[in-house]
Amino acid sequence: MTNWGLEKDFLLSSRKNMWNNDYFEFLVKCVWKIDKPVRIIDFGCGYGFLAQMLLPLIPGGSSYKGIDISEELIKDANIQFANCQEVSFELADLNEYVPIEEYDIAICQSVLRHLSNPENILKKMVDSVKENGLVICIEPSRRLENAGIYVDSNAFDPFEHDDFLRQKWTSENKSGGRDYQIGVKIPNHMSKLGLKDVGVRINDYVDYIGTINDKEESAPKEVTRFLKDHNVDDKYPGADGFLAARCHVISYGYK
Ligand SMILES: C[S@@+](CC[C@H](N)C(=O)[O-])C[C@H]1O[C@@H](n2cnc3c(N)ncnc32)[C@H](O)[C@@H]1O
Repeated sequence: MTNWGLEKDFLLSSRKNMWNNDYFEFLVKCVWKIDKPVRIIDFGCGYGFLAQMLLPLIPGGSSYKGIDISEELIKDANIQFANCQEVSFELADLNEYVPIEEYDIAICQSVLRHLSNPENILKKMVDSVKENGLVICIEPSRRLENAGIYVDSNAFDPFEHDDFLRQKWTSENKSGGRDYQIGVKIPNHMSKLGLKDVGVRINDYVDYIGTINDKEESAPKEVTRFLKDHNVDDKYPGADGFLAARCHVISYGYK
């Protein structure tokens, strides 16, 4: 299992290039219509990225609790939100976590993809919310994610990773390991668990670096960051442009 405390740099870097703030605000205000104080629980909260995104957008009087297995990330989260009484974090393994039906919203981002039992953890999210409560899962499908990557170089082969991905997905699925396609499966899992009005959206963020006219000193650094964040081979650092559509699947439903 990945120790995410050691992947802090990746988490910080990739989250800077993950969402359009206007699209996240649109989800909160126009899709989920969060217009009165809510109690939120964040499964696998990391250093509290979703708290940073959500808190400025939701009504005062709301509260947020994050749960994570990483001591290091929970420590960072506690430092970051030390002055926010409405925010708390708990160090816990979601596999052991016993949900209490007391929240209005249960949310997770990029967590179920890493777990061998995503349906059990999704059930715990459902069990954490009150009647009519909202369950939100933001999870990728590696296939969509890979299809969204383009590097402007003659050497670029968009199908390069397809066989590797197929083998990895098949073998990990068979062995009960993590599921790279979880994002596209969640809506059905939600329906099977009895959630109503299940909806699905796609994160519209596109990570784009155009290098031809970019005289900024930071450009080479950004390219290195892009290659790392999107797991792209570093044989393309001299390409003229880099583009990755995030394509994360946002599934939500009501209890
Ligand atoms: C890719 S990170 C996502 C963190 C955060 N949701 C975000 O989007 O920034 C996955 C997180 O899931 C946490 N995690 C993985 N397995 C867990 C488990 N069994 N119980 C609790 N947290 C877990 C990791 O520690 C890590 O912080």
